[in-house]
Amino acid sequence: MPEEKKAADKFTTIDELARRRGFFWQSNEIYGGVAGFATYGSLGAKLKQNIERKLRELFVNKLGILEIESPVITPSKVFEASGHIDHFKEPMVECLNCKKRFRADHLLQEHAKIGESESERMNLKELNEAIERHIIKCPECGGTLGKPKLFSTMFKTTIGPYAGAVGYGRPEAAQGIFVEFRRLYEMTREKLPFGVLQVGHALRNEISPRQGLIRLREFTIIDLEFFFDPEEPNCFLLKDVEKEKLRLFLAESKLRGSEEITEVTIKKALKKGYIKAEWQAFFMACFQKVLADLGVPAEKQRFIEKLPWERAHYSLQSFDQQFYDERWGWTEVSGHAYRTDYDLKRHMEFSGQDMRVYKECEEPVEKEQLIIKPIMAKLGPIFKRDAAAVAEMLSKTDPKEIETSLKKKGHHMLGKFKILPEHVEIERQKVVERGSRFIPHVVEPSVGSDRLVYVALEYAYHVKEGRVLLSFPRDIAPVQIGVYPLVSKDGLPEKALKLHKRLLDEGFMVDYDEAGSIGRRYARADEIGIPLGITVDYDTLKDDTVTIRDRDTWEQVRSPIAALPELLRRYFRWKINFKDLGKPFKG
Ligand code: ATP
Ligand code: GLY
Repeated sequence: MPEEKKAADKFTTIDELARRRGFFWQSNEIYGGVAGFATYGSLGAKLKQNIERKLRELFVNKLGILEIESPVITPSKVFEASGHIDHFKEPMVECLNCKKRFRADHLLQEHAKIGESESERMNLKELNEAIERHIIKCPECGGTLGKPKLFSTMFKTTIGPYAGAVGYGRPEAAQGIFVEFRRLYEMTREKLPFGVLQVGHALRNEISPRQGLIRLREFTIIDLEFFFDPEEPNCFLLKDVEKEKLRLFLAESKLRGSEEITEVTIKKALKKGYIKAEWQAFFMACFQKVLADLGVPAEKQRFIEKLPWERAHYSLQSFDQQFYDERWGWTEVSGHAYRTDYDLKRHMEFSGQDMRVYKECEEPVEKEQLIIKPIMAKLGPIFKRDAAAVAEMLSKTDPKEIETSLKKKGHHMLGKFKILPEHVEIERQKVVERGSRFIPHVVEPSVGSDRLVYVALEYAYHVKEGRVLLSFPRDIAPVQIGVYPLVSKDGLPEKALKLHKRLLDEGFMVDYDEAGSIGRRYARADEIGIPLGITVDYDTLKDDTVTIRDRDTWEQVRSPIAALPELLRRYFRWKINFKDLGKPFKG
């Protein structure tokens, strides 16, 4: 079978399996469906929750990162400040014949084999020229394509019945964290560094989504904003990860046209300056492990550094974590951006609220302070009713700016008011500074849960002796245990149902199945990735033991029912292996 066909089949097969067994499917099917929206069935919803739970265990429980939930609909002011209204746009072309619309850069990537980086760099004119030069036609009907235009991929709405109250569906959860920075900082008892995580829906009006869970118009994003003092950027957790190796595809290699991977330890990546911020390197190591724990081997992962024109407007350095997908090639699963003080600074400018934090100096420092005092006896007669407002404006302006302008130009303009040297008194005072104010810096890992679900499914999918297995890691499997009576008679179903109930009471996710032959039941369970099958047979009635079957090896062990809750708990927490389930239980 040709490589491309075989690969295409895996994506299609997973999609078909997901629909048939109820992991996920396209939403609103009864009305023909709309691309870019997915509904999860109970297996898919559970799988997604388990993956999100793992991330929470890692970041919220173990690292003490705060978690918040903020609204999806956000007033436009927030996205004016964040820069999204100006920057969150993609180039789009329309077919002049069938009126279908496509991402212009994606068409060039797919039909003219122009690289992602090159096509992302092109302006509208260059995109148009490239489309004409490569004679790219509408992929749907072969019609001629119109000129590319920018399309805002934010969903716009009005808030309440007021046309002027514009709101947007958030394209990232990060802004919900930045706008609450002051309160969150108070919650940490005003200590840096600290992190805040948000898991929630994000909306992006993608132009032509055709990649299932990988590209949705409504998806779940997990944004983690980690705030630190740029003068004390050291990561105190670095020791835990510094020996770990990352596979970096650096910007410098990209610029040379090479696909060379630089495999280095975190320590070396920081020393060589490949990664600028220690905390960013730390989170990249965490996400490498997250993906490995979902079943993606090291050689199928890499971090690709973004070139300046590929980076989001707020980022000083960005890496995309990619996994290798048989059909789509290297595909982004998480983004790692060093957002510096960009967002808080912009919110400070746009809201007028102080987003700075106070830091005490180690030693108090004596400094000279410049003070500009208005002489009201002079301002009164000149500015009359406006005199008080002018004095107020003077107090809010940087004294250095006023002094320089008075010296250089002989006056200083405060809006329409002209201040002359005789209107003010300039004083210099000695002050002792005990601290300073600054805006914290931020590194951000950001990951989509839906892409993680797809990755988990793709890497779990195996065929063994012609049968499909989803070999999910045991801690994310949507159903943990299947309970089966060997046959549906002689009291076995009653015994099995009792065990089923007991295991449910113990908090396990358990299925009960007595339909069809035991072989068919195992096969059905393997296909949705249930790690363990417990069979109640005639011996169970005599000695209260059961067989436990492993999904991947199909091996079986026997164990007393009384020991099951504790053994299973340990098994699903990775404390013991399958074989240990058959050994006498030691407390
Ligand atoms: P891409 O280049 O694939 O469009 P992006 O660079 O726009 O992704 P980010 O803005 O960095 O993505 O978003 C962070 C994460 O959110 C991504 O790594 C991905 O896991 C997820 N994500 C982004 N867009 C989508 C989408 N349309 N559908 C599903 N997940 C998405
Ligand atoms: N976090 C992706 C963006 O808002 O640009």
